[in-house]
Amino acid sequence: MSKARVLVVYFSRTGTTRRVASTLATMLNADLEEIVEPRDRSGAMGYLRSLVDAVRKRPVDISRAEHDVSSYELVVIGTPVWAGSVSAPTRAWLATNLAHLHRVAFFCTLRGRGSESAFAQMGSLAGRQPVARCAITAHETRLGEESRLLEVFSHRLERKLAQLEEMEWLV
Ligand SMILES: Cc1cc2nc3c(=O)[nH]c(=O)nc-3n(C[C@H](O)[C@H](O)[C@H](O)COP(=O)(O)O)c2cc1C
Repeated sequence: MSKARVLVVYFSRTGTTRRVASTLATMLNADLEEIVEPRDRSGAMGYLRSLVDAVRKRPVDISRAEHDVSSYELVVIGTPVWAGSVSAPTRAWLATNLAHLHRVAFFCTLRGRGSESAFAQMGSLAGRQPVARCAITAHETRLGEESRLLEVFSHRLERKLAQLEEMEWLV
């Protein structure tokens, strides 16, 4: 059985968020869970459907999760930004797991605009504010900034976990 304290959960349509999630999971020694949908979103039709799902906040089906989120001290949730919103499958995952979440952190990947509104939506859907957030734009990735941003983010999360452990010792 896994002893990880952190679970990294993500949705990715074209692989960017998957790559970031996988790097983060390695940095944090975390378990990794991909949000999977029964329906395919590839190609132009998949793009359009994703756009409409995000704008209209349409509910979508997702497959059953593999990990029990309630057993993790911290769940780090990642999404691509769609029309300035959280992606529809990540929205569905948050709605399904809301009752089982303790502490959360958020990350997103995007072309350039909409991370703030997407993070605000994720906070409402999760029913709590994140302990930390990280947005990675395509421009930052092209400049070779991605690893540095993820290192800063993962150090911040490790510090939070260390603080929590210290507080538990004091109680
Ligand atoms: C339907 C749709 C809407 C998008 N809307 C935005 C947006 O509002 N702002 C932005 O910066 N990028 C937007 N993007 C780009 C994605 O957020 C970006 O390419 C992301 O890194 C893709 O992640 P993925 O490869 O994990 O799917 C959109 C992409 C899609 C498919």
